[in-house]
Amino acid sequence: MSARVGLHDLSVATTSLVLELDDLAAATGIDPAKYRLGLGQQQMSVPAPDEDPVTLAAAAAEPVLTRHGMDGIRTLYLATESGVDQSKSAGVFVHRLLGLPSTCRVVELKQACYGATAGLRAAADSIALRPDERALVIATDVARYQLDSPAEATQGAGAAAMLVAADPAIAELEAPCGISTADVDDFWRPNDRSTPLVDGKRSIDAYLDGVAAAWDDFRLHGGAEIGQIDRFCHHQPFTRMAAKALAGLAEHTSTQLAEDLIVASTTYNRRIGNTYTASLFFALAGLLDHDDELAGKRIGMVSYGSGSVSEVFSLRVADGYRSAGRGAATLAGLNARTPVDVERYRALHDAGIFGSDANITVEQTSPGPFHFCGIEEGARRYRRD
Ligand code: COA
Repeated sequence: MSARVGLHDLSVATTSLVLELDDLAAATGIDPAKYRLGLGQQQMSVPAPDEDPVTLAAAAAEPVLTRHGMDGIRTLYLATESGVDQSKSAGVFVHRLLGLPSTCRVVELKQACYGATAGLRAAADSIALRPDERALVIATDVARYQLDSPAEATQGAGAAAMLVAADPAIAELEAPCGISTADVDDFWRPNDRSTPLVDGKRSIDAYLDGVAAAWDDFRLHGGAEIGQIDRFCHHQPFTRMAAKALAGLAEHTSTQLAEDLIVASTTYNRRIGNTYTASLFFALAGLLDHDDELAGKRIGMVSYGSGSVSEVFSLRVADGYRSAGRGAATLAGLNARTPVDVERYRALHDAGIFGSDANITVEQTSPGPFHFCGIEEGARRYRRD
């Protein structure tokens, strides 16, 4: 990559409702320590009926456009596992809600929790070629697992929007990357299902194997040595998975990697839950917002999407990253969520799943500016206040 290209802005958004996992534990007779310590999760974000991956994506991206405008944005990559249509990109709805120009191409990327990493790489490569352009990459997901399954406590929802540009204010994306693709049945969601089929233990093993192989490929392609990486961000289906992955990498590279390297990266994810393809970038936002010592430092990014694709890459943090941060707004969004009890959360679990043959009107209940309004003649309708 000739020009310095990377993250010029990063903004995250989550839902308007929240469930305390201690309440879920009490309702299901599970020791709350399993969730807090075993999984490393404290809360889960719950979508209101008028919130979905489209409204979350728009909510994450709007502050980016308010701060930086739309000039030069010719690409929107929207990555999601929980897309709302088999054909139309959720990004086209987001494009309209945000008022992006018609000269901005839009496409949806899918590979479980990995998709946004591919979007980020593709965006950066194209900006390196045409540095006067900018690209928007949005990762957005509602992680919905079957009720009463082992994965129930790891659900969550949220979106991360990234502005990719030359001379980035937050972090440069370094050129080397390491990739590993392997056909594994660890987590997948057939077209007729609203929740995935998942072999949780197998997915943990597949994640660890994938990261080890991607690490080797990263080194083979000129990636930094393990000792030259100052912090790590991992995909976090639950935050303890980051610790498992760090330990796996330490073993694989025969080094000591202290958990201090990942602590800040779990700050938001433990309060939001799994956000599939956005989870790695919530980890990054948590790190950037809670670590004052990152200027000039290298962050190792570890992406995994079941099925599976793994990628290791690195970011070099810009000197002025603190002034580009959005920590106060993110914290305000988390604290503004309305608590729901287990009964309400369970009633909402399938509330957003409709067949396309019914005309449905969804009442506006969430306070944000973007709303899913229902289905009309088979088409999803969205509104901006
Ligand atoms: N106090 C403290 N810790 C406890 C505990 C308690 N009372 N009870 C259990 N734990 C710990 C376990 O020891 C385990 O930790 P470890 O993995 O470090 O040994 C952890 O909590 C989870 O317990 P476990 O019994 O393994 O959970 P589970 O079988 O019910 O489900 C998953 C865990 C991750 C398999 C499940 O949530 C899942 O399927 N998630 C979706 C898939 C996923 O996220 N995969 C990750 C890779 S993408």
